[in-house]
Amino acid sequence: MSATTSSFPEGFVWGAATSAFQIEGAAFTDGRAASIWDSFCARPGVIVDASNGSVACDHYHRLDEDLDLMRHLGLKAYRFSASWPRVQPEGSGSWNDKGLDFYDRLVDGLLARGIAPYLTLYHWDLPQALQDLGGWTEREVALRFVDYAETLARRFGDRIASIATHNEPWVIATLGHEQGIFAPGLSNRRTAAQVSHHLLLSHGMALLAMRAARVRLPLGIVLNQGPTVPATDTETDRAKAHLEDGRLIRWYMDALFRGRYPTDVLQHLGEDAPQVEEGDMRVVCTPLDFLGVNYYTRSVVGSGPATPRPGSELTDMGWEVCPQGLTELLLRLQRDYPLPPLYITENGAAYPDRVAASQRVHDPLRIDYLRRHIAALREAIAAGVDVRGYFVWSLLDNFEWTSGYTKRFGIVHVDRETLQRTPKDSAFWYRDFIAAQSR
Ligand code: FCB
Repeated sequence: MSATTSSFPEGFVWGAATSAFQIEGAAFTDGRAASIWDSFCARPGVIVDASNGSVACDHYHRLDEDLDLMRHLGLKAYRFSASWPRVQPEGSGSWNDKGLDFYDRLVDGLLARGIAPYLTLYHWDLPQALQDLGGWTEREVALRFVDYAETLARRFGDRIASIATHNEPWVIATLGHEQGIFAPGLSNRRTAAQVSHHLLLSHGMALLAMRAARVRLPLGIVLNQGPTVPATDTETDRAKAHLEDGRLIRWYMDALFRGRYPTDVLQHLGEDAPQVEEGDMRVVCTPLDFLGVNYYTRSVVGSGPATPRPGSELTDMGWEVCPQGLTELLLRLQRDYPLPPLYITENGAAYPDRVAASQRVHDPLRIDYLRRHIAALREAIAAGVDVRGYFVWSLLDNFEWTSGYTKRFGIVHVDRETLQRTPKDSAFWYRDFIAAQSR
């Protein structure tokens, strides 16, 4: 029996993931207000195909069709995010009933089809009104987030499987506030460090508030992670890789599981290190019920910019296909931290898929990618890592941030003109795989 067909632990959850901004569209429908991604997309030159999320996959209007599609594909779980500016347009004050109703219909529609709903509260689409007040650079925004978290937890908590606070705080802080390539497009290292602290603080505060509100659900956070390896064995490259690992993994993991930021990264940041108030770190390291790990690739760092080694197998994003990196990562996390149960909350690959004359979408490379990563996951589980579920990124081809609609991560093809959904071969492969697991 191959590693992918041997069984996973009893109750292991197989699903697919999306996020609100990337699929919903209906950007200004039924009372939704602008998010920082709407504003960012409007800046000339930042999105490669000059597109935006106004229509995206029009999931907001095609909800029933998409729910039926998920059932048809035999998914057991669906990870989605709520759009904050859809449910609370200004990010504070009044709530938008039509927005909340949409997520009621989504959650109820999933349950009616036997699919477990996994909610992420924040997948990058901050209400623009909060950005106008300074966004995540302001400590005050953490309080707004707590309010948002508590309201959603009370509304949906009786029907959903779990709540993750943030998706990939590293991306928000580093790409959004230091490199300036993601919304809100700021380029300041000190700001980014402060933002990362406010994100973690808001996470901890939200957990405490949700628990105080007697929300009896598994609560956690989702981090993007992967091994960082030196390009060569020189002292310089090794030091560089260690620091990058510190900024990507240890910064977040040490804070969440040890209640402190790693000394070497603090030293590296020097005066740009965040201001941390008395008691903050105790809040940040509030115990988690689960940790979500998004894994795509590893990064190889050396004297130049981070790059895959020459000759590596690459996806359409230019990311190295590195399944063993997932096994290594999970074993390392298990060795270094007192982990709660883990979920692989995202894993997948972009390839330039096309609908063939036969109306099929042949994507053998994605099937191969998924098969190998699932085998790598199986290996980590066999070695004792407690992983409870796996979500493929993504259900649908969607708005891939600065790549616009030029990169296709879906197991379901979406035609950009007609928005017609066509399950790719990988979707049928995944359906059969899930069915075989449940036998
Ligand atoms: C992750 C994001 C997700 C998607 C994938 C490809 O970093 O969480 O929204 O863009 O990458």
